[in-house]
Amino acid sequence: MLSQVRPVVDYDLLVLQADALLSGETDLLANAANFAAFIFEALPQANWAGFYFSADDGLVLGPFCGKPACTRLAHGRGVCGEATRQMRTILVDDVNAFADHIACDSNSRSEVVVPIIFDKIVAGVFDVDSPELAGFTPTDQAGIERLVTTFLRRTAFPARLRRGRTTLCDELARAICEYRLEHADILVRFDGIDIATLSPEQAFTYIEEIAPITLAHMRHEATWLFPRLMQGGDMLKKRSEHIAREANDAAAHLEEFLETWMSPQIISDDITRFRSEFRSVERTIRGRIAAEEEDLFTAALAEFGR
Ligand code: SME
Repeated sequence: MLSQVRPVVDYDLLVLQADALLSGETDLLANAANFAAFIFEALPQANWAGFYFSADDGLVLGPFCGKPACTRLAHGRGVCGEATRQMRTILVDDVNAFADHIACDSNSRSEVVVPIIFDKIVAGVFDVDSPELAGFTPTDQAGIERLVTTFLRRTAFPARLRRGRTTLCDELARAICEYRLEHADILVRFDGIDIATLSPEQAFTYIEEIAPITLAHMRHEATWLFPRLMQGGDMLKKRSEHIAREANDAAAHLEEFLETWMSPQIISDDITRFRSEFRSVERTIRGRIAAEEEDLFTAALAEFGR
C-alpha cells in the first residue's frame, strides 16, 4: 500500500516568515498568539498548536490554535510535564503508547513538545499535536525547535516566568534583600541632613521626599512581608506579630507628623516644636529599622533558609 505523502515543509522558509511575522512586536501574549496561529497554518499535519506557561501548580494554558484544551497540567504530568522535567523536546509517535499522555482532543495521535528554557528555568512549553500516527519526524522536531528559538528571540518574557516557580523560602530571601536595600536607602537619607540647620522650606522639601518612600516601604512590609513571616514557626510568628504592631505604630506616628506639618509656613510658625517632633519620628524609624527588623530578618532567613 502506498503511504500518503505529505507535502515537504520548508523550515528554512518558515523560520524567515516567523521572524518577519514577529519582528514588530515583543509582547508575549501577542507574539504567542500569532506564533501558534502561524504554526497551525504552516504544518499540514497539526490539529493543535499552542503554549503552556509555568505556574506554581504546574503549567497553565496559553495562546493556541485548535480545539479547546485542558487549562492546567499538574507538575510533571503528560508529555508537556515530561518535557518540562527533562528540559528537552519530547517527540511522541503514538500517544496511546505514552502512559501519561493527557488527551485534550481524542483525535490526536502524536505530538511534539518543546520546552522554553531561560537559565535552566522552564518558563513554559510549545506543544504541537497531530491526528496522524508519527505525525512529526525528527526533521519536524528540529524545524519546530528552530521556530521556537525564533519566537524566543523576538519576545519579551516577564520576569515572573523567567524566574520560574518560586518557593516561599526563595521569595522571602529575595524580598528580605530588597527590604534591606530600602532600609539602607531610608537611613542614608536621614544621615544626609541636619534638621537643625535647614530652613522651613528646605525642611518641607526634604520631608516631601523622604515621607512617601518611607510610608510605601512600611505599607509593603505590613501587607506583604510580615504576614508571610507570620507563617513561620512559633518564635518567628511571635516576633513578627510584635514587630508588625510596632511598625504600624511607627507609620501612624509618621502620618500624624505629616498631617501636622503640612506646609513651610506651619513649620516656620513653630520651628522648635517641628524639630523636636521630627527627631522623635526619626528615632522611631531608625530604632525600628536598625534593631528589631534586622533581628527579625536574620531569624527569618535562618528559619526559612534551612
Ligand atoms: N497532550 C498534552 C496535553 C496538552 S494537549 O495536547 C493540548 C500532554 O500530554 O501533556
